[in-house]
Formats: sequence, structure tokens, C-alpha cells
Amino acid sequence: MKRQIPIARPVLGSEEEEAVRTVLQSGMLVQAQKVQSFEEAFADYIGVDHAIAVTNGTIALDLALKTLNLNPRDEAIVPAFSFIATANCVLFQGAKPVFADIDPRTFNISSSDVNEKITARTRAIIPVHLFGQPASMDPLKEIAQDHNLFLIEDAAQSHGAEYKGQKTGSLGDIGCFSFYATKNMTTGEGGMITTNNSELARKIRLLRDHGQTEKYHHTILGYNYRMTELSAAIGLVQLKKLDELNETRIKNATMLNAGIANLHGLTPPYVEKSSRHVFYQYVIRVEDNYPLERNKLADYLKEMGIGTAVHYPMPIYKQPAYRQLGYDKTSCPVTEESCRRVLSLPVHPSVTEKDIQYTIAKLQAHAFS
Ligand SMILES: Cc1ncc(COP(=O)(O)O)c(C=O)c1O
Repeated sequence: MKRQIPIARPVLGSEEEEAVRTVLQSGMLVQAQKVQSFEEAFADYIGVDHAIAVTNGTIALDLALKTLNLNPRDEAIVPAFSFIATANCVLFQGAKPVFADIDPRTFNISSSDVNEKITARTRAIIPVHLFGQPASMDPLKEIAQDHNLFLIEDAAQSHGAEYKGQKTGSLGDIGCFSFYATKNMTTGEGGMITTNNSELARKIRLLRDHGQTEKYHHTILGYNYRMTELSAAIGLVQLKKLDELNETRIKNATMLNAGIANLHGLTPPYVEKSSRHVFYQYVIRVEDNYPLERNKLADYLKEMGIGTAVHYPMPIYKQPAYRQLGYDKTSCPVTEESCRRVLSLPVHPSVTEKDIQYTIAKLQAHAFS
């Protein structure tokens, strides 16, 4: 039978099953002790004072932005090369996302382009630690300090990643995580907000739960963005496994690097020396001197049973939803080129050494080594 290697697969086992069963048997399904324990364990792991569990990563970003009380003329700088939620959270608040280009090697937001995009209306910068590699935070922190801006980390793809020995989610004013099914750790759907700012944490907790300070006493307008006990129970187990799961991703990436380094026309991911890249995705560049164009290579690998994905096929500002808003004149050339060249290969913890050898052999079939 032909080998089948999916691009993503959550690692769930008997411990998660047992954790869910325990919650079901308890009859306590909505936000309670498990959520609190998950928040405490996550805050401890990231190295922050507060962690607030929410329904998903999009809502984590939404609530982080909500605390800024943005006006319609306010701007927040976001990378054009990311999942669309990074920019949408600014629009949800009625403000304007301003797109910055990326570093061609890491695919992370370029601090020099961020500098270019600052105006009198800029209120926040939202770097994404894309594919599991921390964005270059020192220059971004400096810009944020110089211009009195809020720094919100989109850490949806970087659970356990480190920048100069510090975990992502502890580097800015607020960190936002996703526990979507493909992420380095999952709760099915889920999200977490991390911060050292007690006042922000208090406000976010209120916004998450109808603005309630006590039962049926609503001090501000709030939502229901609570996490369930079932999700939190899974999250507690996944968090315990996270370092081990990340180590397997890193080991798989190292094996892929070794095979791809010899292949003309394919560029393996660049890793900053001061970073711990946790390989949410393993993203190569397919250059002009590779015999197959990127999409043709993806089709060929699919035929061979190897799942791939393009993260991301177009800059956010080119999405129809953004064109309608008048973003047609925006241009981020490095992002546009990256959208044409990137291809994600399977790197998740269920990928075996044999799967990696098979993937490299198939890539080799076309490249001149
Ligand atoms: C960079 C980035 N930001 C935000 C999100 C949104 O997270 P969620 O899917 O949990 O809403 C995701 C995940 O899908 C993401 O990859």
C-alpha cells in the first residue's frame, strides 16, 4: 500500500480520553476548576503572571485588541504574511490594519518595514511568531517603546518557542495562543491570552464572561468566550506533552534539513541562532532552478501520498474581503514572492524517520543533487 503522510495530525491518546471521561463523569462541563488549573499551568509554562483561557485564538486576539479601546482612525501594524485572523482582529475593533512586509529568510515581520509604517495614528504592533519561529522581538520592542505602542504577540503557532531564552507569549504586552487541532498542542478549538499586566487580565476575564463580577451582576458589556472543562482537561494533558512533542518536531525538521540541503532549487527553513523554532510548520522555498514549479511539486507529492500545504497562498491584503475595503494599492513585495514559493512539508510528531526518507527521496527524484 502506498505511504500516506498527512500534513497535520493531532497526537491524542489514552490520557486525553481519560481526562475527558473524568470531566463527563463529574457533570461539570462549563468553565470551572479544570479551566483554572489549565490557566495556572499555562501561565507557569510561559513564564507570565496571568493566563486567560478562551474559545479560540481568534477570540484571544479580539479580546487583546478590545482592551485598547481603538478609534476608527487608529492603526495597528500586522504582517501581510499570516493567517487572516491576525489582521481581522483589528477590523473587528473598527480600526485599520496596516500591513508590513516580512524578512525573506524567516518569513517573520520585518522590523525595518514596521518602522516605515508607523504614523501618528499607530497604536499597536502585532508580530506573529510564524510557523513556530519567534519574530525578531528586540527591535520591535524598541520601536514600541519609542512610539508608546502596544505590543501584541500572535503566538498562535509558537507554543514553547523561545526568543533569547524567553518563551513567546511573555515578550510583549499580551500574548495570544490558539489550540486549534493542528497546532503544537490542541484542545480541539481553544485559545489563551497571556500577560504580566494584572489590570489587562482583570478586564479580559470580565469581557470573557458577560462582564460579571458575581452571578448576574454585570459591570461592563461582555461576551461568552469561555472555554469548556472538556477542552481544559485535554489542554492540561497536552501541555504536559508539549516539550516532548516539540522535540520530535525539531528532530524531524533536522532530518528534513539534512536531506534538503543537498537538493538544488529547494531552500530549507532558516532558523535564527537566538531562537528555539518549534516547527509548527516546516516551510521550504521552491526556487526557480528546481525543475518543478511549486504547485506542480505539491501535486506530484500528493500523488505520492505526501500531504503538503501552502501557508499562505496570498497576502492578507489581496484577499477578496480586504480588496473590498480598499487595500488594492497595498504592496509587500517579499510577502508576494514568498506566497509564490513556499511549500509546507509534514513535520508533525507522527511523521516517522521512514516518512522523512521517503519525502526526501521524492523531492530528490526531480532535483539535481
Ligand atoms: C497566526 C494565527 N493567528 C490566529 C489564529 C487563529 O486561531 P483560531 O483558529 O484558534 O481561531 C491562527 C490559527 O489558526 C493562526 O495561525
